[in-house]
Amino acid sequence: MKNSTIFTSLSPNAEIDDVLLAAKLLFMPWKWQKGSSLNKLQHEFQKIIPVENVFFFESGRTCLYLLLRALDIKENDEVLLQAYTCVAVPEPILWVKAKPVYVDCDEESLGMSPVDLEQKITPKSKVLIIQHTFGNPAGEMEKLLKIAKKHHLFVIEDCAHALGSSYKDQKTGTFADASFFSFGRDKVISSVFGGTLTVKNSELASKIAIFHEKCEPISKRWIFQQLLHPILTGIAKASYDIYLGKIILALSKRLRLISKAVYPEERKGLKPPFLLHQLPNALACLAVHQLQKLDPFNTHRAKIAQFYEQNLDGLSIRLPKKTRASKPAWLRYTIQTEKAAELLKAAAREKIYLGDWYTTSIAPKGVDYEKIRYNPKSCPVAEKLARQSVNLPTDIHINKTKALRIIHFLKSFYGGKTTSK
Ligand SMILES: Cc1ncc(COP(=O)(O)O)c(C=O)c1O
Repeated sequence: MKNSTIFTSLSPNAEIDDVLLAAKLLFMPWKWQKGSSLNKLQHEFQKIIPVENVFFFESGRTCLYLLLRALDIKENDEVLLQAYTCVAVPEPILWVKAKPVYVDCDEESLGMSPVDLEQKITPKSKVLIIQHTFGNPAGEMEKLLKIAKKHHLFVIEDCAHALGSSYKDQKTGTFADASFFSFGRDKVISSVFGGTLTVKNSELASKIAIFHEKCEPISKRWIFQQLLHPILTGIAKASYDIYLGKIILALSKRLRLISKAVYPEERKGLKPPFLLHQLPNALACLAVHQLQKLDPFNTHRAKIAQFYEQNLDGLSIRLPKKTRASKPAWLRYTIQTEKAAELLKAAAREKIYLGDWYTTSIAPKGVDYEKIRYNPKSCPVAEKLARQSVNLPTDIHINKTKALRIIHFLKSFYGGKTTSK
């Protein structure tokens, strides 16, 4: 169909084979909770991130929460994280009653600023979380790691956006003492919900293994809801342009047939209704299938990012920069523009739904800054980045024709020419 709707979100990684797999699993409830897929997932994952101690949970949030508990982080301890992030990162810090200390950004890589990090460290600082934002490895890795070493901080890499990316030919997720990854619905690969925790220290790993063992299996009802997600969103996307899709989506949300990525209570730093579960077998099965497509997915994303870069030069927007040392996963291609809000609205009118990740310094919109202990004045660069961010899609459904439509839209929005390279 000519000019069909372009999405940035809504199961961007689900292809027809993923939808069929989810549909098949729907009819195999005996495979939902336990089965052989977790072992397969571990095997496949360790081929990419060669770390011995790997644990799979139902979300990245649970990975971080259990890691902080295993480290015995508690009241009066401080955990350093960057602003320009998702509320899912400070949440686990709040759940262990520690203090999240927000560090400002490095404008180039959208990662953490080492200069601001030095200033925010106190004798109470215990942990540093290094985030690889939108799949772009933190640009000042060596400096951040050096500062952490000097101050005896435990370092965690937040690779929620960055599976498969690398820095100086080393995979992100292998630099720090521990790392976590997400297989959430909009991440590099997706099983709707899912997270991986890797730790280097074997004593710490034994503690996490005990937590992992003690996790109750997650309910079949919850698994059913996640299996429905790629199916319903797939049908909704396919029928969006004849309005049926909008109705299917609205009904699916209303009837709670599909889950939310961030629950309303999380905007106040409270716990969502899932947590502390191992990754169930059915979602591990979806994740194994997606992991096999990691390389083609990331190669495709890199090509689309390059296409944007070649064709958006000269407009009054700032294009994302990668350092020469890094090979990003390009989860989203995030541009900076003073007209971000206007641009998002104008694109939607053209049936182009661009991404609004991190259009507030602690996303999504509506997060209660007081409850999550964020003082906006503390991170001016993050504030500016958030005001100016718009993400362009790079996923497997964005072919060159769709990317060109986005490019032409941007050129006409900024009054530029519409020729492409
Ligand atoms: C930067 C970042 N870290 C961590 C998370 C948490 O991952 P999950 O959604 O799997 O809990 C998210 C996503 O929500 C995120 O964007």
